[in-house]
Amino acid sequence: MDKIVIESGQSLEGEVKISGAKNAALPILASSLLTDGQCTYHNVPNLRDIESIKQLLSHLGAKVESEGDVVWIDSSGLYNHEAPYELVRKMRASILVLCPLVARLKKARVSLPGGCAIGARPINFHLKGLESMGAHVELEHGYVNVSVKNLKGAEIYFDIPSVTGTENLLMAAALADGITILRNAAREPEVIALIDVLNQMGADIKGAGTSKIIVTGVSSLKPVSVKIIPDRIETGTFMVASAITGGDIKILDCEPDHIGGIIDKIKLSGSEVEIEDKSTIRVRGTDEIKSIDIKTLPYPGFPTDMQAQFMVLMSVARGTCIITETIFENRFIHVSELRRLGADITISGNIAIIKGVTALDGAPVMATDLRASASLILAGLVANGATEVSRVYHLDRGYEYIEKKLEKLGAAIKRVK
Ligand code: EPZ
Repeated sequence: MDKIVIESGQSLEGEVKISGAKNAALPILASSLLTDGQCTYHNVPNLRDIESIKQLLSHLGAKVESEGDVVWIDSSGLYNHEAPYELVRKMRASILVLCPLVARLKKARVSLPGGCAIGARPINFHLKGLESMGAHVELEHGYVNVSVKNLKGAEIYFDIPSVTGTENLLMAAALADGITILRNAAREPEVIALIDVLNQMGADIKGAGTSKIIVTGVSSLKPVSVKIIPDRIETGTFMVASAITGGDIKILDCEPDHIGGIIDKIKLSGSEVEIEDKSTIRVRGTDEIKSIDIKTLPYPGFPTDMQAQFMVLMSVARGTCIITETIFENRFIHVSELRRLGADITISGNIAIIKGVTALDGAPVMATDLRASASLILAGLVANGATEVSRVYHLDRGYEYIEKKLEKLGAAIKRVK
């Protein structure tokens, strides 16, 4: 298994280009199942999770080809309604094929995704929504079996604004008979991006970016050629990289409108942030990082996917702060690894109290989930001596060539087999 070794001491300077957003690409690639023509997707990031969903779509009968950051998917030949455990367990976002399969083939048999390091990750909202649209849903032997004569429009209320729950049910509603209203729906930019693609395919969806989405079902959807939006979490991760090393980084091909919550907190922690144009921001770190409290919330609040990265910044800030994680019940697993690097963090339920230390100490650490692994890389940039991060396959799920991008900014970082 690969490891990444980082020597500290460099202030990162220069330019970095942001890749396409993993969490936009996954539902959008799954939406290719809704039409029987060839769809073309540009700016698709080269990630393990993208490989996983391409493999799953091929398994279902779609023709999947890719070259560079372009992916072509033609699901005219879709014939298999089953997504098996050995494919789904590799990536729980595989659940995003469930509703397109039901919408297109009127049936689906998808392995339950199971939990992951950060939480139980149930899919009850997805299943309840399908049942309210008339589908028959049953669970057996770790699979969910869904069948329906014809999906019909329904009123669906989310107890929690689930991102993939909203995305899955949007794809079912797009081809249902009648009108579906999603209330307390997710407002993330990735949900808006999926709605834009579905509307370009001929769907009739109103309310993107609000918590009430109205879908008027249509009889069929047509293939499209679209570009994936930039990854706001990768953007935020490089903003922290500049803030924590006192660097000066220009972040290109990003979407400043999607990271208001992150910009606010990076500024409050002492860095300068300039929006240079509609796709470029510049972050200049300071040598005195201020401790500030954060609370993760559904968009447009501070994103849970940035919590671990921000915690690292706070671990070397001047003062004490509180980080409250409100989305996932177990998203502090990076804390024990950060403590190995000398961070002073106390956990009480879903609250972490971070007392800034003057310096972290490099050590061997282990990645446990995607965003935790990014936080360990960020810590390595400033921890005295060498930091060795193992199990970096977690990192490869969601960050495209991160060590190459950091090296180009001056980091002393290398991947060792
Ligand atoms: C999406 O996960 C993202 N993944 C996650 O990113 C992100 O952390 C999360 O949204 C929150 O922003 C993708 O988009 C592929 P949720 P998702 O459904 O949709 C509960 C990363 O690092 N819930 O919005 O699975 C759930 O337990 C990943 O890129 C139910 O109870 O998250 C959680 O507490 C990690 N029942 C809350 O809702 C359901 O049916 C929010 O989960 C669904 C969710």
